[in-house]
Amino acid sequence: MTPRLELSGRRVLLTGATGGLGRVLAERLAGGGAELVLIGRRSEPLEQLAVRTGARAIVGDLTDGEFVASLREQVRGVWGGAPDVLVNNAGAFELAPFAETEPSAFERVLAVNLRAPFELTRAWLPDMLARGSGQIVNVGSVAGRKAFPGNAAYSASKYGLRGLHEVLVEELRGTGLKATWIEPSAMDTPLWDRFDTEGRMDLPARAEMLEPGSVADAVCFAIAQPDAVSVEEIVIRANPAARRC
Ligand SMILES: NC(=O)c1ccc[n+]([C@@H]2O[C@H](COP(=O)([O-])OP(=O)(O)OC[C@H]3O[C@@H](n4cnc5c(N)ncnc54)[C@H](OP(=O)(O)O)[C@@H]3O)[C@@H](O)[C@H]2O)c1
Repeated sequence: MTPRLELSGRRVLLTGATGGLGRVLAERLAGGGAELVLIGRRSEPLEQLAVRTGARAIVGDLTDGEFVASLREQVRGVWGGAPDVLVNNAGAFELAPFAETEPSAFERVLAVNLRAPFELTRAWLPDMLARGSGQIVNVGSVAGRKAFPGNAAYSASKYGLRGLHEVLVEELRGTGLKATWIEPSAMDTPLWDRFDTEGRMDLPARAEMLEPGSVADAVCFAIAQPDAVSVEEIVIRANPAARRC
């Protein structure tokens, strides 16, 4: 039996809450008693999720620098200070040969996957350091460790995010703060809806991908650890020969 998740009163700020992983994660965190502020781009699904999880919802586009800059004050308005945990989960995905990757697409992917986590982490670090506690969870990808054709923008962003995370881990030693890198392989989420995963041999079949719930469990595991335990990295890969249960 899975032990009950105990996160009573833990304040978690989650980006990408309207996505495949974000939605499951929000529900599990709320089930464990966490207080949530959820960020998403699409207002209707975000508001519905906020009602289900008793969360506050903030709608906005993470490529919009003014919106990202406003988040510190908006979240302060809810909690009066820094979250206990920031989960940088929002992600933009592009699939195109290098030479056909538009600079605008490259910039958009970097803005969501790398710049926004940088800005949000930077916004909360001073308060967390002054308090001597706090956790930054960065959702990376296998594409931040291994190169795949067609992933120029996405890989650049996820390799970059892993670099940012590793610097953070070193800087946070001895401060009481912690940083966690979550690195899934392909997950069966709406991220793949735009692509013909069944018809293209170069893409993983959806039935062989990880279920987002398995990755949400890993995030919850890292967040539920006592202050004295820091989970720095969780690498999760599908085991396609095994049946899902
Ligand atoms: N799915 C995979 O195969 C896979 C594998 C490894 C790692 N990951 C990583 O896991 C994380 C979650 O991905 P997912 O699979 O859940 O993807 P998803 O279902 O496509 O969800 C992506 C989330 O990011 C948000 N987002 C995208 N662009 C945004 C923007 N410009 N401003 C604000 N929010 C934006 C989306 O908001 P809206 O829905 O409101 O637009 C959505 O909530 C991402 O960091 C992704 O890179 C995914």
